[in-house]
Amino acid sequence: MSQIYPSLLSADFSKLREEIEAIEKAGADGLHLDIMDGHFVPNITFGAPVVAKLRPHTKLFFDCHLMVSEPDHLIESFALAGAQCITIHQEATKHLHRSLQRIRDAGCKAGVALNPATPLETLEHVLDDLDLILCMTVNPGFGGQKLIPAALRKAGNLVDLLKQAGLKDKILVQIDGGVDARTAPEASRLGVDILVAGNAVFGEKDYAVAMRALRS
Ligand code: DX5
Ligand code: ZN
Repeated sequence: MSQIYPSLLSADFSKLREEIEAIEKAGADGLHLDIMDGHFVPNITFGAPVVAKLRPHTKLFFDCHLMVSEPDHLIESFALAGAQCITIHQEATKHLHRSLQRIRDAGCKAGVALNPATPLETLEHVLDDLDLILCMTVNPGFGGQKLIPAALRKAGNLVDLLKQAGLKDKILVQIDGGVDARTAPEASRLGVDILVAGNAVFGEKDYAVAMRALRS
């Protein structure tokens, strides 16, 4: 069964600590933190100092998704702030292999995100250097968008390819964007390990009920 990582992007930013405590109590498997730089994507969210302030208030796994151009110089500060997985975009770094090494050297799991139009083949030569592949199921930058079916099919293809290569136990497959009670069952059926969900969790009154709906 897939794990559910609520995306903090859809939480109430005026009370992030309470939101995180509530989501942990409701049974989240991890917390997805969206970092946007206003350059790689149009929006700006928050940086490592905010992550560091939130870190003592939860035991949840911190999964930081960096939607940032040339993210290398930020990797150590997010690791120090308490990130446990750092995911960078394939499209945002010139030297992907080096960036991934830098994430692992900082003591974090290394993830790569692919925009909906970016082919899986771009990761063929870095499979030994990553722990997670995030197939974006919307174009990054905003919560509350509709899932792109072709991007979900790509995640399914990735699961199959990893199985064939004997790497399914080593590399996690994650999707992000447009995950709701209607789209989650198909993603689960395809073998996606982690479903990131913003609006489908934080948009509901009862977070535990919302997560149960995603799991069922
Ligand atoms: C989009 C972010 C997502 C976003 C998902 O750029 O990376 O994590 O919060 O939000 P929903 O689940 O509402 O599509
Ligand atoms: Zn995200």
